Amino acid sequence: MAMPFSQFFREQWQELPIIPPKETCSGATHIITGANTRLGLEAARQLTAIGASRVILAARNLEPVVEVRPPDLNIHDSVKASAKQATDRLDRIDALIENAGAAYDRYTLAEDHEASATINVLSTFLLAVLLLPKLKESAKRFLSYHILSSSPAGPAG
Ligand SMILES: NC(=O)c1ccc[n+]([C@@H]2O[C@H](COP(=O)([O-])OP(=O)(O)OC[C@H]3O[C@@H](n4cnc5c(N)ncnc54)[C@H](OP(=O)(O)O)[C@@H]3O)[C@@H](O)[C@H]2O)c1
Repeated sequence: MAMPFSQFFREQWQELPIIPPKETCSGATHIITGANTRLGLEAARQLTAIGASRVILAARNLEPVVEVRPPDLNIHDSVKASAKQATDRLDRIDALIENAGAAYDRYTLAEDHEASATINVLSTFLLAVLLLPKLKESAKRFLSYHILSSSPAGPAG
């Protein structure tokens, strides 16, 4: 059902940051790509602050944790390897936050496609599809899962 306009109008005046109750993320495992900087890093900080048990910072320049190698979105094999490790080695995945993205002012290729299309669309979609079974399996036990994408033209929002 559509939200009444009056409610929508009132909600625009909520004070930031909006802090969800700690139970929302309690015990949950989140994966955030591109979490070494800016929006991704801040998302990781916020999730930790509201009680997420495990926040996997999937960033190329960070040492892998729990033996999940971060994906390099230029390379599909890297995405596949990372998704497999996450599926095999994590007991649950509640949310995938696909924040990594890139824009180039020069035409370059990655995996036979223009590089930003490979990173922001193809690899982002590939990672989501490969992690979907684990997200769904976790959701059976823990009720819901989320895939969020902030890359410029990602597959899910
Ligand atoms: N900030 C904005 O105004 C804005 C607006 C619209 C959309 N966005 C999108 O929101 C997301 C975050 O933006 P931001 O400004 O916080 O971050 P950012 O400074 O653009 O950083 C992007 C992140 O993506 C990672 N990344 C780039 N290419 C990658 C690759 N091939 N494989 C794996 N990781 C890769 C980077 O890792 P490395 O450090 O290893 O390169 C970095 O962690 C991006 O997807 C951006 O396109 C941002």
